Amino acid sequence: MISEVTQQRFAREVAKYPADQKQSAVMACLAIVQHEQGHVSADSERAVAEYLGMPAIAVHEVTTFYNMYNQQPVGRFKLNVCTNLPCQLRNGQTALEHVCSKLGVEEGGTTADGLFTVQKSECLGACADAPVVLVNDRQMCSFMNEARLDDLIGTLKAHAK
Ligand code: FES
Repeated sequence: MISEVTQQRFAREVAKYPADQKQSAVMACLAIVQHEQGHVSADSERAVAEYLGMPAIAVHEVTTFYNMYNQQPVGRFKLNVCTNLPCQLRNGQTALEHVCSKLGVEEGGTTADGLFTVQKSECLGACADAPVVLVNDRQMCSFMNEARLDDLIGTLKAHAK
């Protein structure tokens, strides 16, 4: 299940912690799995748990707590629209609904062409820029009114060609 190369990457993370606390590397190991496979399956959770010597449920608790971990395959562009209170007060929900409507998906869904997955998100730490959208867990997009959301989607579609 875990390739030798992946195990070497895990070992580098585990080495950063005391020998009796290797479970501290769980987030890093899950990030490695996701980077390699695009998501963290239940099988991968069990493999990480076994590698780190911790209960599988404890690993599952991590993947389900942080929405940067994908529990199933996602589109090429994952759009996380923040709907926590500060964003909500500045049209975060409207932004989410606009993106879903524009792409023809329900929240949590992926477009038929596999390009976009739209998810609502907890606070992304950029409340002053509300409403915000995070693209592929890396790129923060601020002040996302409908025109800017349309521009973002158009730019990503063009980028995908
Ligand atoms: Fe949206 Fe903080 S509430 S970034």
